[in-house]
Amino acid sequence: MMKTALITGACINTGVAIVERFLEEGYRVVFTGRSIEKVKEAEAKYKEKFANSEVIGFAIDSLLDEKTVDEESVENMFSELDKLGIFVETLVLNAADQGLGIEAFKNPLTDFMRVINTNVVWNYCLSEHAARRMMKNGGGNIVFVNSNTAYRAIPDRIAYVASKGGQLGMMRAMALDFGKYNIRVNAVLPGMIKTDRWEKNPEFYNNVPSRFTPIGDVAVGEDIADAVFYFAAHARNTTGAELVVDGGNTIQLYPIIKNG
Ligand SMILES: NC(=O)c1ccc[n+]([C@@H]2O[C@H](COP(=O)([O-])OP(=O)(O)OC[C@H]3O[C@@H](n4cnc5c(N)ncnc54)[C@H](OP(=O)(O)O)[C@@H]3O)[C@@H](O)[C@H]2O)c1
Repeated sequence: MMKTALITGACINTGVAIVERFLEEGYRVVFTGRSIEKVKEAEAKYKEKFANSEVIGFAIDSLLDEKTVDEESVENMFSELDKLGIFVETLVLNAADQGLGIEAFKNPLTDFMRVINTNVVWNYCLSEHAARRMMKNGGGNIVFVNSNTAYRAIPDRIAYVASKGGQLGMMRAMALDFGKYNIRVNAVLPGMIKTDRWEKNPEFYNNVPSRFTPIGDVAVGEDIADAVFYFAAHARNTTGAELVVDGGNTIQLYPIIKNG
């Protein structure tokens, strides 16, 4: 029977590479984005590129406001999938609030709450709804697209770094509690990924210290998709694990930047 993966935040960038990887492998893919127009556009592109594939997009935002996670829309999405007879065997939590521009002493607390609510609480909500169905269907797996900032901090991103650290703790706790239902929970920890932000601001990205990795390059979306797919489809006896995909960035004491 065709397996289904649900991938959040998959109208652009890394999410697209993850969707395409699962489609290449013959999965049915359910994906999310926040705007209905972008979701429809992405769905059409996937269907054009992967003829005969089954792809369903949902427009869903994490929050009703900074303080309130929109659980109802998560519930509605899973109920709709139930009605269609679609069981999500793999949940990939890729969407994230990047928490850019939130500065200590300047921004209101609600900005900090917005990031934690999306990256931790909403992902918990999605996991709970998915895991409830996995329990009934004999198991499944959840993959977080986390970040190496869960290990090491970067400047002016306190909310984001806190959210990724919280997410990693949550991943382990879920792996512990869900194991008895044959639900595996793991995390991929990217370092820098080449996204459309590189094309928009090449000067910044060409000089940012985290691009100077031991292997001399940074990841593309397909590298992250490989790691996600490994956890989803191959890692039968692995749960609560972390796979860092950052070109070795985190093992350095400092980046070695060659002049010229
Ligand atoms: N890029 C990097 O260098 C890097 C490094 C380490 C880790 N990561 C992690 O890798 C993952 C993918 O990164 P990326 O750079 O490809 O992401 P991205 O370009 O920022 O896209 C993230 C996705 O998250 C969705 N999203 C953002 N806020 C949301 C909200 N409040 N509710 C629901 N969806 C929301 C966006 O949806 P819309 O399409 O609706 O805007 C978008 O599709 C993220 O978890 C990120 O933290 C990225």
